[in-house]
Amino acid sequence: MIDKIKDYIAEAEAFKAHTKEELEAFRIKFLGKKGVLNDFFAEFKNVAVEHKKEFGQVINNLKKAAEGKVNEIQEALESKEDTAGAYGDLTRPGEPFTVGSRHPISIVKNQIIDIFSTIGFNVSEGPEIEDDWHNFTALNLPEYHPARDMQDTFFIQTNPDVLLRTHTSSVQVRYMEENKPPIRTISPGRVFRNEAISARSHCIFHQIEGLYVDKDVSFADLKQTLLYFTKEMFGKSKIRLRPSYFPFTEPSAEIDIYWGLKTETDYRITKGTGWLEIGGCGMVDPNVLKNCGIDATKYTGFAFGMGVERIAMLQYGIGDIRMFYENDVRFLEQFRASI
Ligand code: PHE
Repeated sequence: MIDKIKDYIAEAEAFKAHTKEELEAFRIKFLGKKGVLNDFFAEFKNVAVEHKKEFGQVINNLKKAAEGKVNEIQEALESKEDTAGAYGDLTRPGEPFTVGSRHPISIVKNQIIDIFSTIGFNVSEGPEIEDDWHNFTALNLPEYHPARDMQDTFFIQTNPDVLLRTHTSSVQVRYMEENKPPIRTISPGRVFRNEAISARSHCIFHQIEGLYVDKDVSFADLKQTLLYFTKEMFGKSKIRLRPSYFPFTEPSAEIDIYWGLKTETDYRITKGTGWLEIGGCGMVDPNVLKNCGIDATKYTGFAFGMGVERIAMLQYGIGDIRMFYENDVRFLEQFRASI
């Protein structure tokens, strides 16, 4: 008899069911009113006293095995149902979701930062709301200096000392006040000018200005640095520096790159000359170094500045500067970049 029960235990342990019906049949066979287990329990009273203990244990094992199996399979079947309910058909293709894209201004800004960082320039930042000293006076533009009109300024309230910075040269002043030469830094940032908005200009735009101050820095260093930049950024290796005027640099120049005259667009963006202006530059005026606490008899420096929108418009063939600020997703989602 005991062997018979052990066979049932083995059967119960090996049992597998894929449906509730199969499981129910198993339950009835083993645990039902007229099931195997009850038969053996009924048999119990006929068992000789000396075998009762062993017999009892084996039936109990069979009961445990059968009940354990029923619970185990029931749980498995239920969790299958849950999964199906919560996730639907797991073999269906995934739902696509939209990945964001970087703003073209950020892409171009990061490219410029990358290029200059490989030749040792770090990145410096400063406040957008500035005081008169950092935006103008320290840069050799004292009050009533006519050159202040070159950059129409937004003042905050009626206090002429608080304004929105018109260029990131203000960051360079702050950097020179806080650091000693050698200085090699670029200052990217948003700037503000009270100008009429058109396809070519906006009252808010972005600049990247560069500053290099050390012993024996020369105009040749400036030109070579700019040449390296235009090669890396645009793949163009011809630049020219046209004499110009900025109060904070002496001598000063406009930076033109030779864009070429191959296509219709080249004619349009270079106005038929092949040359394209991308920014201003010059040797830092000794007065500016002095204003920032740097010994102008020991050190010289160069500085340059360019508009990020201008460069982004060239890189991507964008015809209207206003597109950058309208946040139209149809425009923005065309830009994908890893940096
Ligand atoms: N700060 C100047 C501007 O905004 C650009 C510039 C920077 C020119 C450095 C010369 C040197 O117009």
